[in-house]
Amino acid sequence: MKPGIEWRQPRAAVENEQFADDLHAALSRIPKAISPKYFYDEVGSKLFEQICDLPEYYPTRTELALLQTHAADMAAQFGERVQLIEYGAGALRKVRLLLDTIPRDSLQFVPVDISGPHLLSACDGLAGDYPGLAIHPLVADFTRQHALPACAEGSRRVGFFPGSSIGNFTPAEADAFLRLAAAELAGGGLLIGIDLVKDEHVLHAAYNDAEGVTAAFNMNLLDRARKELGAEFPTDGFQHLAFYNPAYRRIEMHLRATRPLELQLGGEIYVFNEGETLHTEHSHKYTVDGFQALAARAGFKPGKVWTDPNHWFAVLWLEA
Ligand code: AVJ
Repeated sequence: MKPGIEWRQPRAAVENEQFADDLHAALSRIPKAISPKYFYDEVGSKLFEQICDLPEYYPTRTELALLQTHAADMAAQFGERVQLIEYGAGALRKVRLLLDTIPRDSLQFVPVDISGPHLLSACDGLAGDYPGLAIHPLVADFTRQHALPACAEGSRRVGFFPGSSIGNFTPAEADAFLRLAAAELAGGGLLIGIDLVKDEHVLHAAYNDAEGVTAAFNMNLLDRARKELGAEFPTDGFQHLAFYNPAYRRIEMHLRATRPLELQLGGEIYVFNEGETLHTEHSHKYTVDGFQALAARAGFKPGKVWTDPNHWFAVLWLEA
């Protein structure tokens, strides 16, 4: 019996159906807009990893340097015994820097991710490198109500949400997530990475890299629609657009129609005027004070802050 083969096909079909439904809804909306979660198929996840290594994309390396320098100080906020919950676990690269400073027998690690196969393979790698570490992966959408494993006697729950992933949320969505986190982490806290408001040119370059990797990452959404859903549209009909919107303090990514065109999806025809866009992502930038105020309204008490000399990125400790 090979369970992998049993569920792979139906699972892909269910995911495609969700993608199709969401893309139809996205194209019917005014203005047209879709969730950035559809960037991350296998190709998109690889492109994102490439983005993280780009010279222009400062967030990953800046946050890694903060974790490298201050991991022990960060972990010192956690308490003696912890259940460490990573929201949106991804490759489990950053958390290792924290794990390295915490005695393994006082720790339970709960990575939460929506993508089961990806999460489980990342956990295999981690288990190999950290023998004796208790790992309890949870396949779930962490923005919704989810059941965490029981917390051991005398342990505190600590959340870890690196990468400024919270920037993808609107302030209202960020508020909803922080409220949910404050409730489940009560008595413990949250360690979170946020990208800071900065010179517009630095931001612009980070999302318009010279090699065009971010453009390929953005366009991959349309490639997926073509390959997985049979969508039809002119190959050169769209271009990558990313700009800083100061009114909302966010980078917006769009796919912009280079001329009037039609996109055909499952028998429906969606019309784009020249210059009309499909909004694919926003990436909100915060000030430390602004984010602490948002967190305080959601039920956290702001604590220590670690930031780089340029003040481009910050890691915040928030008591729940
Ligand atoms: C993964 C949401 C933090 O907003 O910077 C990178 C995604 N998009 N380049 C970000 C992204 C374009 C990234 N986050």
